Amino acid sequence: MDFKQELGKSLAACLPLSVEDIVSAIETPPDPAMGDYAFPCFKAAKALKKAPPLIAKDVEAAIEKPGFIREIRCAGPYLNFFVDRNVYMGDILAEVLEKGENFGRSDLGGGRNIVIDYSSPNIAKPFHVGHLRSTVIGNALYKIYEFLGYNSIGINHLGDWGTQFGKLITAYKMWSSDEAVKEKGISELTRIYVKFHEEAEKDPALDDEARGFFVKMERDDPEAIALWKKFYDISMVEFNRVYDMLGVKFDYFTGESFYNKKMAAIVDELEEKGLLKEDKGAKIVDLEAEKMPPCLIIRSDGGTLYATRDITAAIYRKNTYDFAKALYLTAMDQSLYFAQVFKVIEKMGYDWAKDLYHVPFGLVSLKDGKLSTRTGRVVLMEDLLNTATAKTLAIIEEKNPSLENKEQVAKDVGIGAVIFNDLYNNRIKDVVFDMDKMTSFEGETGPYVQYTHARCASLISKAGDLPEAFDYSLLDDEASLAVCRLFETFPDKIRDAAAKNEPYIVSRHIMAIAQAFNKFYHDNPVLSCEDENLRNARLAVVMATRIVLATGLGLLGIKAPERM
Ligand code: ARG
Repeated sequence: MDFKQELGKSLAACLPLSVEDIVSAIETPPDPAMGDYAFPCFKAAKALKKAPPLIAKDVEAAIEKPGFIREIRCAGPYLNFFVDRNVYMGDILAEVLEKGENFGRSDLGGGRNIVIDYSSPNIAKPFHVGHLRSTVIGNALYKIYEFLGYNSIGINHLGDWGTQFGKLITAYKMWSSDEAVKEKGISELTRIYVKFHEEAEKDPALDDEARGFFVKMERDDPEAIALWKKFYDISMVEFNRVYDMLGVKFDYFTGESFYNKKMAAIVDELEEKGLLKEDKGAKIVDLEAEKMPPCLIIRSDGGTLYATRDITAAIYRKNTYDFAKALYLTAMDQSLYFAQVFKVIEKMGYDWAKDLYHVPFGLVSLKDGKLSTRTGRVVLMEDLLNTATAKTLAIIEEKNPSLENKEQVAKDVGIGAVIFNDLYNNRIKDVVFDMDKMTSFEGETGPYVQYTHARCASLISKAGDLPEAFDYSLLDDEASLAVCRLFETFPDKIRDAAAKNEPYIVSRHIMAIAQAFNKFYHDNPVLSCEDENLRNARLAVVMATRIVLATGLGLLGIKAPERM
């Protein structure tokens, strides 16, 4: 049953407001002593030109109480509703158990496409913790939208084209070799890239040579392309290793180079639409009226830019996937850039520019300082995930040394810890990497939620044959009610997370469920309960918790092991 909806209908029968308006105004009081639902009468007061407390009194007298409501009380401008616990809990638990892993799923998206551009690291550069955020937030949104009936399309817009590859080719020819690159991978490419910059300071001719190589790449010169491809392949081996560890997949790896041959037509279109202006030999789209700096489309040396590729990519994606929405996950420092790109697309006359969303996020810092490339404190993703796994393995060795499959569980939990830590706050907030804190089995961590899930799984398996029917009327304590309330709002939270592109709404909610469950479990013995019917009713709470936690973790891209 949709309780809010039912309550909304009863209220609508005695107020001049629509059911939707009422439902959207219904609140959950912060303190359950004030009721399970509260309806503020301010909107109705406007419509009726009457004081809210008076309306509350009138409605209290007139309303036909829905069956699941035990009591209604007026509190100033508010009407507070108290549910009949047995009816309420029985209804929710039955629904979770019946729907199982589909509890919370919906067809809100109606199968429409949503394009999610995430991760998108740069070839020949290390995949560092800064890229982690884009990857895990994008992956969570991918799963959340799928769960809500959208068809998610995950795109990795690799940074695989640009003048830096001319520099890399120059550097490779002077200071590296096939063997060195094959053996050391991206770290060798980084070494020679850094060396290039040092040497070019002394010898500017190197820059000319690099530019020459990039021009060759753009002209499809076989030698230049073969070297570029070598750097590409080597980088992909490392990136894919990280994606495997994180359990992240993409539908397409269409990076910047994918648009090489497609840009000319778009530049022509910009020209035809009268949007290009000459500026010191370069071509720009003027955005002065929009109070933004101009968007550079063609450089004075004829080269294209990051923006040229993004404008082309957006149009390609619209034509190919006809998306309802397209999201771009990058750090906050690209916010102005995306505003410019979206504006250019709008100026081209594409009304779907309104469906493009930049989804920005804050920086990552280490507990003991900033993360910066200059001081050499680049923390590599792979090292970090391995450290988290090793720490978790040590905890398991201490707590549960006889656990089967320890290595795999340590991976699921260690990596889950890193992901959960990243997704636990509003995106825009900076993420602090505190390895000890995030891998702890206690506190507001991923392992705590996973541990709670595993505790439920273990209780269920120890319970033996599961009952087919439950007498929910035996549950009447506050702790059980608190868990059920959180189940009720779980579907809303998923929708809200999608509407705001904020996975933390899901992670906070499953944390609340895990905490409420542990309180429930502390207050209510389950397997040792003597009354069999009561034991079974409590077991239903355990079973439902296991289901909802597994779903929530899954939506965040985190595994839910059965044992820990
Ligand atoms: N490669 C870029 C970077 O590391 C991110 C690309 C984001 N996606 C896009 N379509 N521009 O900053």
